Amino acid sequence: MPILCTDDYRALARPRLPADVWDYIDGGSGAELTLDANRRLFDRTELRPRVLVDVSVCDTAGKLLGAPLATPVGIAPTAYHRLAHPDGEVATARGAGPAGALFVVSIFASRSLEDIAAAATGPLWLQLYWLRRRAALAELARRARDAGYRALVLTVDAPRIGQRLRDARNGFAVDPGVRAVNLDDAIMASSHEHREGASAIATHAAQAFDQTVTWADLAWLRGLTDLPLVLKGVLTAEDADRALEHGVDAIIVSNHGGRQLDGAVPALRALPEVVAAVAGRCPVLLDGGVRHGRDVFVALALGASAVLVGRPALWALAADGADGVNGLLTMLTGELEHTMALAGRPRLGDLGRDAVLLPDRRDG
Ligand code: FNR
Ligand code: LAC
Repeated sequence: MPILCTDDYRALARPRLPADVWDYIDGGSGAELTLDANRRLFDRTELRPRVLVDVSVCDTAGKLLGAPLATPVGIAPTAYHRLAHPDGEVATARGAGPAGALFVVSIFASRSLEDIAAAATGPLWLQLYWLRRRAALAELARRARDAGYRALVLTVDAPRIGQRLRDARNGFAVDPGVRAVNLDDAIMASSHEHREGASAIATHAAQAFDQTVTWADLAWLRGLTDLPLVLKGVLTAEDADRALEHGVDAIIVSNHGGRQLDGAVPALRALPEVVAAVAGRCPVLLDGGVRHGRDVFVALALGASAVLVGRPALWALAADGADGVNGLLTMLTGELEHTMALAGRPRLGDLGRDAVLLPDRRDG
């Protein structure tokens, strides 16, 4: 079967994954309102093409926190890539590097930070959850720096795990053969314990995540390292302002792919207010529902510097390992380039608000 769009990877991945792993990856929280809304808003956003522009060369390359990127499409942090492919995050890194794409590695990666770094030829960031065991965070920050990671990403939308009904129904627990190898087994044990009617991911987070963390604690994290600090999971102008007051180096507008607060605003809807509040002071990224080059175009037109894909990377990894991940990123970048050509915007710098019409604001 020729692979012509992101959904082709989804179709290839599904039969290769156990049903409970499929649900863990695919699902959202609650009634999956936000999961669906992320996509729906992209689908309802329209493009305003310009004509008679020289589009013989359309350039998708840029820079993010000082690192050159061939594409503004990167890989969002997702836990346990070995659930999707035996080589896990090493395969993901091998796929992302030649595409010139950013790879954000999850704190729950199933390969060591060092092995991932050895396989990577493109930039890596490390994502953290705020664990109660602060010594573990300090150790990860040190290892990330030593291994050449270029930023720490603190995910701030998950003081606890959203109510993921599919996982609870499945009694989902992480296969004991797939482990978050960068953390002590003692910290992770409950992730592997199956319980009827409960998600082990949620049980584990309730034990291991520090729900008391506030803005005041960011200084501690900053003090661990001189790596740039990125906040993931900001959805309001108010919090974007606070993030900048606290010296954050980049913001990822995200609702965690509809897996946390159900009913939360779609990432794309939140993007313009965050971009306006940030007013150029730091890069703003977006994830949630990006499935086409057209979606990348829309996010960039609304002020994002880059976008990340979560589930599609896992589909591609399950479908064809490193080649799948590379194929996915190459395809999305090609679709972006094509959209730029047909929309008469050959440079990323040409993408502005006037390039799109949001459904509730058809005047541009
Ligand atoms: C995630 N996400 C996530 N985020 C994070 O900060 N740390 C993590 O470990 C994970 N783990 C994770 C696992 C799986 C299976 C999924 C699907 C997602 C959220 C992820 O970074 C991102 O915000 C969303 O996946 C983006 O939405 P799309 O692209 O999946 O629609
Ligand atoms: C998830 C957590 C691990 O979304 O972030 O599954």
